[in-house]
Parts: sequence; C-alpha cells; structure tokens
Amino acid sequence: MKPSVLVTRAIFPDVIEHLARHFDVDDNQQDAVLDADALKARLAGKAGVLTNAADRVDAGLIAALPGLRAVCNMAVGYNNLDIPALTAAGIVATNTPDVLTETTADFGWALLMATARRVTESEHYLRDGRWQRWSYDMLVGMDVYGSTLGILGMGRIGQALARRAAGFGMTVLYHNRSRLPESTEQALNARYVSKDELLQQSDHVVLVLPYGPQSHHVIGAAELNQMKPTATLINLARGGIVDDAALAQALKTRRIFAAGLDVFEGEPDVHPGLLTVPNVVLTPHIASASEKTRRAMAMLAADNLIAALDAGPDAGHPQSVINPAVMGHRR
Ligand code: GLV
Repeated sequence: MKPSVLVTRAIFPDVIEHLARHFDVDDNQQDAVLDADALKARLAGKAGVLTNAADRVDAGLIAALPGLRAVCNMAVGYNNLDIPALTAAGIVATNTPDVLTETTADFGWALLMATARRVTESEHYLRDGRWQRWSYDMLVGMDVYGSTLGILGMGRIGQALARRAAGFGMTVLYHNRSRLPESTEQALNARYVSKDELLQQSDHVVLVLPYGPQSHHVIGAAELNQMKPTATLINLARGGIVDDAALAQALKTRRIFAAGLDVFEGEPDVHPGLLTVPNVVLTPHIASASEKTRRAMAMLAADNLIAALDAGPDAGHPQSVINPAVMGHRR
C-alpha cells in the first residue's frame, strides 16, 4: 500500500501526478485555506505533507500526528515550522533553497527600483488623470546607480543582490550573523559593517534575513531613526522583521524616503497605515513568483517528500533537509 500524503494548497497538476506515482495523495486543488483544525484533521493518518509558508506546523500539531514522518515546505523560509519539535519527534523537514535565489533577487531589484524611482506612485498619478504638464520636480526620486546598498542578511539571496549591484556601480555594505570569507567579500565587492553603520550609511537598505525570535522587529522606530531621510527600505524576507506600525509612521512623517514591501506582519492583512501613505510600494509576497521558479520549488518539495519517505527505488536522499540531525533517528 502506498503511503498517504497531504498537499495543503493547490499546486501544478503535473506535480500532483508526480506525487501520485509514489503516494495516495490528498490534494487541495480547490485551494481552500486550511485553518489549524482543518490541517490537523486532514493530516490524520498521513505519513507526509507538502506545506506552504502559511501553514503552521507547531508542537501541538506534531504531538497529535504520531504517523507523520516528513514535512516538506515549498518555500526557502521555514519560520512556519517548529524545527526543534520536528527534530525531537524524528520528522524530516525540508525547504526549497537555491531554486528561487535568482528570481527573488531579480524581484528585490524590481522593488528597489520601483521604490527609489516612485514607479507605482507615478502610474497612479497618470491613471488618475493628474498628469497635466511637465515640471522639473514632478515625481523626483532617489538614484540607484552609484548609491550605497546595505544588505541585511548575506545568505544566497543577499549575495545574488550584491552581484547585481555591480552593474549599478554601487558601494555594497552588508551585515550578517557571521562574516563571509574574505574571498567571497572580494568577489562581491561587499564590505562587512555593523548593523548601525549599515543603517546610517546606506541609501537603500534591503532585508533578506531569516525570521525568528532573534530577528523579530529588527527594524523598528529606533532603527528607522538611524537611516538617512533620503533612504529606502526594502523587505523581501518575512513580515515581523519590520515593525510595520513604526514603518508606517516613519513613511508618513517622511523620516525615510520610501519603502518597498513584499511581506507583512500578519499577512495577508496589511497594516492600515501602510495602505494610506503614497511612498510605499506594496506587493503580495510574490518575490519568487516566476512560472519557472514556482515550478522548480514545487518539484523540489515533491522530490524531497518522495526521498524523505523513501517512496520508491529512485527516491534518493532529500536534497534540502533543514534538520539533518534527524536522519539518524527518523520515525
Ligand atoms: C518565500 O517567502 C519563501 O520563503 O520561499
């Protein structure tokens, strides 16, 4: 008998077909959002699950599912998974790094350019019929070329952003939990600085660090106050890294020039203060959303699930295990 797995949200039909060659698949192609109770009920008797970044897999859920052996997240971020609880229970957890790095960095650039050069605000201005004549100071923004980029969190995506910055003749500063090897810094032309220096010296600050208790509200009122009044702030990482209430206030009072946000605290809800200020570009968590990349993420999550559950002779080893310590004592 094939093991049973759940795919919590709609994904590409051919990925479901791929999984169905190995498992009895309980899919959700109608894309209903499963709340905690519905998720628990649908996971009863399942050996594995392909989750989305919005599905919470916490200690309570894990304790209620003694047959669960693998949780494969279709996202690089995994703050929705309680990794210590999964590890203690002997459950393999995987994510989808690498396949989304370049696409996400491209989008970071789109958000940065749109924010600095007021692209969405300009479009609204035009569509609203407010464009009557040219004027020297109409919708003037901040330069990207030749400016200073500050990258907070210098993992794969941060490094891909830094590589792009070379084409814009930018000075690249970064701050990270651990400093990169000197050879990588040289290749990226990036200089390690303290978080304070990064905030004070950057023209454009981009957040690409993982979310967890240690990065909750890493950017709040005090940090926004350290930034240049001409600076932009771009959040590509996770809601909760920025205190959205403090940011809305800083944008309203023009304490900073503008922000570009793809992620929000409590999304899909957005802080009402962010919806009423013009100097913010808002996108609905789409940084990895190219056709090719979303397909690669779904396929990687599916292959991870097949491998983690040893489902078939060609199963192999899961490619991106978050908790490798579990491999010796898997359920
Ligand atoms: C998206 O936010 C991801 O973590 O992949």
